[in-house]
Amino acid sequence: MSLLEDLNWRHAVKAFKPNETVSQENIDKIVEAARLAPTSSGLQPFRLLVVEDQDIKNKLVKGALNPECMQECSHVLIFAGWKDYSEQKIDEVYDMTTDKRGLPRGRFSSYTDQLKAYVGSKSAEENFEHIARQAYIAMGLALAQAAELKVDSCPAEGFSTDLVDEVLELDKLGLKSIALIYVGVADPERDWVGSMAKVRLPTEDFVINY
Ligand SMILES: Cc1cc2nc3c(=O)[nH]c(=O)nc-3n(C[C@H](O)[C@H](O)[C@H](O)COP(=O)(O)O)c2cc1C
Repeated sequence: MSLLEDLNWRHAVKAFKPNETVSQENIDKIVEAARLAPTSSGLQPFRLLVVEDQDIKNKLVKGALNPECMQECSHVLIFAGWKDYSEQKIDEVYDMTTDKRGLPRGRFSSYTDQLKAYVGSKSAEENFEHIARQAYIAMGLALAQAAELKVDSCPAEGFSTDLVDEVLELDKLGLKSIALIYVGVADPERDWVGSMAKVRLPTEDFVINY
């Protein structure tokens, strides 16, 4: 199937079959799509938290707009961003980049100096907004990869980020949750949206040609 057919196939699943799991092989591929996402300056300023543990899912149910999805999905993939940029984090990424490319450390220092000055001129909130935008690109690619594998999913912002941060102790990791994807096996009996037509703006309204 083509990417467009896969994107037409997928929908935001509203109910998953409890006790049905997605294979580790497929989870790994979805994770890999997110890992390969492009990010601004290549910083990858977010991490992907893969939650399979039922006790953790149960703890997150009360903050979820889709409590049944949280409880019954196979895996919850949570995108969590750096709380802010820092000079140290930028250096770590660029040291890794130069090391992997066999270049001397500091090879990109004129660029990273500009980058550090730019992010240093912004508030932590502004930087976190920018970080979150990077995570959403990865989320889109993960959703597309899930569709290609015919793995059911639902992207979600409807959850308590405070609760997720607390339960997963993200503060200790310098992270804050942004958005998540429920992954599992759709239950057609309860997934009320599954049989409905996909609704999108017609192309002529969506595209503005110049
Ligand atoms: C960033 C984002 C957040 C979303 N949050 C939720 C959510 O919290 N709960 C939910 O049921 N659906 C959520 N959705 C799913 C959208 O409602 C759904 O993608 C949209 O209605 C289009 O339908 P489709 O994905 O089934 O084609 C979210 C989608 C995106 C992209």
